[in-house]
Amino acid sequence: MRTALIAGNWKMNGLQADATSLARAVVSAIEPQPSVEVLVCPPFVHLAPVGEALKDSGVRLGAQNCADVPQGARTGEIAADMLADLQVQYVILGHSERREFYAEDNRLIASRCEQAVAAGLRPILCVGETLEARDAGQTEAVIAEQLDGVLGILGAEGFVDGVIAYEPVWAIGTGRTATTEQAQAVHAFIRNRLAAYDADFAERTRILYGGSMKPDNAVALLAQPDVDGGLIGGASLKAEDFAAIHAAAARG
Ligand code: 13P
Repeated sequence: MRTALIAGNWKMNGLQADATSLARAVVSAIEPQPSVEVLVCPPFVHLAPVGEALKDSGVRLGAQNCADVPQGARTGEIAADMLADLQVQYVILGHSERREFYAEDNRLIASRCEQAVAAGLRPILCVGETLEARDAGQTEAVIAEQLDGVLGILGAEGFVDGVIAYEPVWAIGTGRTATTEQAQAVHAFIRNRLAAYDADFAERTRILYGGSMKPDNAVALLAQPDVDGGLIGGASLKAEDFAAIHAAAARG
């Protein structure tokens, strides 16, 4: 049985006071449930104060990226062990916004994943197709290429306690969500692909859905057998909405 994971990706939003008050609001809005892990991923510069605000709450701390090398001459990058030092437990990698706006490719994302795992962080590897790819019937080919581009290098044993997030690019920030059937079909495809690496690995790896997940669509999405949680952007910036999605996961 996989423990659900409800993760908030705060992206590049808010000043420090906004981040700490959101963290406090999340802590008070969430009713902890043993069957659901809760995670928030603030911008790097807010990790320490948000970590302080989350102390002893059970809400975990995550980051939105990490460097592809352990240390040294990489101006502007943040090393995975710097994150671990701040009690960060998860790191989002390969988000479509980074693939699109910063030209991150699978090779680079695989190196970032390796560094995350080496520092004891759990990577959340994002995959997802554009609308053009979906319309061209290329969804599975794109997802397979993104998964194999990283797992082909790390292997199941190198992706220790990692998580996959399926985020169709056309559903991110658009208010347009994948239908439950579309989401379940891709999640099942991903789990099958993971099984080609290792059957146990496929069974235990959590696959999150991301893309305009809101309180009103979360129940149906989270009820799908291969949807093990959510990676939530916009709705994670409102503590009540995030808590409502968490409550949906607790019921699902
Ligand atoms: P939205 O929930 O705002 O669509 O963002 C999803 C996302 O990109 C999470 O990583």
